[in-house]
Amino acid sequence: MTAQLIDGSAIAEQIRAQVKAEVAEWVAAGHPTPGLATVLVGDNPASAVYVRSKQKACAEAGIQSFGHTLPATASQQEVEDLVRRLNADPAVNGILVQLPLPAGLDEEGVLSAISLEKDVDGFHPVNMGRLAQKGRDPLFVPCTPAGCMYLLQSVQPHIEGLNAVVLGRSNIVGMPVALLLVRANATVTICHSRTRNLADVVRQADVLIAAVGRAEMVRGDWIKPGAIVIDVGINRVEDPSRPKGYRLVGDVAFEEAKEVAGFLTPVPGGVGPMTIAMLIRNTLTAAQWAAAKK
Ligand code: GUN
Repeated sequence: MTAQLIDGSAIAEQIRAQVKAEVAEWVAAGHPTPGLATVLVGDNPASAVYVRSKQKACAEAGIQSFGHTLPATASQQEVEDLVRRLNADPAVNGILVQLPLPAGLDEEGVLSAISLEKDVDGFHPVNMGRLAQKGRDPLFVPCTPAGCMYLLQSVQPHIEGLNAVVLGRSNIVGMPVALLLVRANATVTICHSRTRNLADVVRQADVLIAAVGRAEMVRGDWIKPGAIVIDVGINRVEDPSRPKGYRLVGDVAFEEAKEVAGFLTPVPGGVGPMTIAMLIRNTLTAAQWAAAKK
């Protein structure tokens, strides 16, 4: 079998074009331009790249972005004060604090300081708590998990009753995507570093979400024939033949997996672009809610 690739770049591009059209319509109707504030603390190079990509996507969609950077030495108080200023700024509809924060900062404290209505990343403990509760809905769904679900449902709208295995239990991806799968009535298994017989568990998956951050950990013979495989990993591996000296690979051994899976997301060009598409969609939604509240 050769898997059908799920083209995240193309799907994300469609969403971005749709958001751009909606933003233009929104502004033409006399509303203020939606605004996203990004907060980057410290000098993690990967975080800086991600934040720049998010700002660029905002500009392309007609969303204003306000970039804030703080040194790695910033205190908890300084970061939270900045967040509170952004909470009070009517030009800012969404606040994105790029994670991870430098060691020593209390992530939960910072995320809790973001006003719920501006929590376009969906990481506020109340939004996460609502995601985990039956009959409750978060104001915003975290962007990468939402992107995973969108890609999954683009090839299989009916997830109900399927065995879904999530590799990884991070706050950013593994746990929220598992909660979204539960909400879609899948039977969900969350695997992590202590899971026994990992390959055997993964082999039960009709749907596999790999979000562990370990290059090519999932081998082809771990995958159930015909499974839908969503690879969230973005790992650098040394490759002297490339201009930058490295290439990006996922958590899944792509060449092996594509012989077994039914559907597979590539890296790059799979989940990555979806995160940004979901972020600009959430930012527009935040602007619409802010206007409705006035
Ligand atoms: N770090 C890795 N992914 C994300 C994300 O989606 N949002 C934020 N804020 N930080 C991240």
